[in-house]
Amino acid sequence: MGAFRTRGLRQLGGSPPQSLTKPISDVRSARVTEAVIFGASGYSGLELLDILAGHPAVTVVAASSDRWAGEMVAERLRRWPTDLRFTSHAEVFEATREGQIALLAMPAEASADLAPRLLDRGLRVIDLSGAFRLRDPAAYEEWYGFTHPAPALLDEAVYGLPELFEVPADARLVANPGCYATATIAACAPLMAHHLLVPGAPLVADGKSGVTGAGRSTKDELMFPEVQENLRAYRVGRHQHTPEVEQALAAVSGRPVRLCFTAHLIPMRRGILVSVYAPVHRGVSSIEVERAYKETLGGHPFMAWVDRPPETAPVRGTNFVEVHARVEPRTQMVCAFAAIDNLGKGAAGQAVQNLNLLLGLPEATGLLPAGDA
Ligand SMILES: NC(=O)c1ccc[n+]([C@@H]2O[C@H](COP(=O)([O-])OP(=O)(O)OC[C@H]3O[C@@H](n4cnc5c(N)ncnc54)[C@H](OP(=O)(O)O)[C@@H]3O)[C@@H](O)[C@H]2O)c1
Repeated sequence: MGAFRTRGLRQLGGSPPQSLTKPISDVRSARVTEAVIFGASGYSGLELLDILAGHPAVTVVAASSDRWAGEMVAERLRRWPTDLRFTSHAEVFEATREGQIALLAMPAEASADLAPRLLDRGLRVIDLSGAFRLRDPAAYEEWYGFTHPAPALLDEAVYGLPELFEVPADARLVANPGCYATATIAACAPLMAHHLLVPGAPLVADGKSGVTGAGRSTKDELMFPEVQENLRAYRVGRHQHTPEVEQALAAVSGRPVRLCFTAHLIPMRRGILVSVYAPVHRGVSSIEVERAYKETLGGHPFMAWVDRPPETAPVRGTNFVEVHARVEPRTQMVCAFAAIDNLGKGAAGQAVQNLNLLLGLPEATGLLPAGDA
């Protein structure tokens, strides 16, 4: 099972994938699958609970948290429909059973340790951390600061960006993409797939994220007075999503890709806007660029071309990516943009999209307003 089997990039815009066209009656009659969430007290974990509260074919049977162990989930999430309680990570692990699907929303090093043990117990795993996104084990020391404990799984893990890469229904381990990575890849992939960029020139990207992107933390620099009315760059030249984007875009373009990426923290709760700049071949026009995006992303319910630079507010609380690009003729540079919700398409929404694919369901199940799924 390849981690980067591209999903017929050039043919998109034809018939939508079969997983989108299955009738909703198939979902209603589908067997209910048990899901277990590790790291349920984090921002991504809570978002997973929120989305799955309304999912027609998945029941969350356990939600792990040490800090909130014993508390009712409904106390933190009013619309939660059952009397499920948060339970310690160790207890949830002991209660896991073959056939369940585990969603891991915890730090990468903890995921790297836990996922192999869950796979050994016969669960399938969707990991929201970066623990299984990179294929090169050595890259974990450089970008994540730990030695990978299960390097053999890096080849098996499927990179779960379903608009671009195939997520087979029999995959055991899905590496859910990073939030900045999802937006940056969406902004660049159509340009790469259509070979519109000057090869070899590095991509330059700025990503701006709301504060939930940093997780639930009491760090000084994430406190309200430090963040409000302030804007700053962080992890300059060493953001861990850099090699992930390079790896995915190299798979799309068939060539090595170099990215100069800078992350910024902005004073809002959720949302990411990525702006990318790259030289295009002489003569490439905005019209050609627009056509490339529409062809590459057409037929996918969650990725949409918009006719103006995208904004974070319209995608807030959704699994959508909105993209736009235009060529700046004076410099022959393309300026490409993508907006997502970091907790939606950047984390929990995309994880549920991948979960649907593992279950053979339409990939939008539970992710669109009732009636649209
Ligand atoms: N936030 C985002 O926008 C975003 C987007 C994409 C991907 N991600 C990735 O998703 C993962 C979760 O991010 P987050 O921002 O939701 O995190 P978070 O808000 O910081 O919460 C972390 C969660 O992990 C649990 N946890 C911490 N250490 C653990 C350990 N050693 N073993 C098991 N569980 C542990 C915590 O449980 P306790 O209750 O016990 O503290 C908590 O539930 C991270 O890998 C992150 O990189 C986040």
